[in-house]
Amino acid sequence: MARRRIVAGNWKMNMTPSEAVALCAQLKDLVVNDEVDVVYCVPAIDIVPVVEAVKGTNVKVGAENMYFEEKGAYTGEISAAMLKDAGVEYVIIGHSERRDYFKEDDALLNKKVKKALEAGLTPILCCGESLEQREMGITLDWIRMQIKCDLQGVTAEQVASMVIAYEPIWAIGTGKTATSDQAEEVCGAIRACIAEIYDEATAEAVRIQYGGSVNGGNAKELFGKPDIDGGLVGGASLKADFGKIVNPE
Ligand code: 13P
Repeated sequence: MARRRIVAGNWKMNMTPSEAVALCAQLKDLVVNDEVDVVYCVPAIDIVPVVEAVKGTNVKVGAENMYFEEKGAYTGEISAAMLKDAGVEYVIIGHSERRDYFKEDDALLNKKVKKALEAGLTPILCCGESLEQREMGITLDWIRMQIKCDLQGVTAEQVASMVIAYEPIWAIGTGKTATSDQAEEVCGAIRACIAEIYDEATAEAVRIQYGGSVNGGNAKELFGKPDIDGGLVGGASLKADFGKIVNPE
């Protein structure tokens, strides 16, 4: 069965609640596409107004992070149940900015993935290598390690429902996109890794995105690759260009 394309915006730390509502209105008609899952992953404070703003449209809402504990004394954190109750369907886990700036390691990310799935959220699990790692020739080893650690104890059925985003760190916010062949090589290797840990059917079902300087001009070629099922988009998700990524010409 063909995998359904998924294009998600990662707004990062951008958009006040009122700006968020205005952006939803601006993008509303541009992101209509019955064949694509369109998701806005937004800052926590924007979740409630964005869920309201996209009601009745094809857009789903995602969070950019969550904590793995059920509830309690974890000042400043947000639980999976809170996200679910607010109308969130997806959650980004393990973005390289969280790994780097907030020191999130694979053991923690594994707990987050399991909790998100248990709560009925779809994790968008991020992985990716630094420029230094690429130059050392360890890209595929590194990515395989991240995937294996982050998916410990996750069932085949759960993995089949997930989204994995390959985001080379050197391509994020730099305007330096991986070539479609470079992106396909790693996305294909991720799928092969899933087949190795689980089975072919699970590998065929899991959706794999590319992220890193995706824009209206390069989306068509990237998404045309057999193992790339869509994109996780930073900068270009905050403007009209996002419509061209959802509907590449
Ligand atoms: P840019 O699209 O701005 O490069 O960001 C990619 C990203 O980090 C999405 O999660």
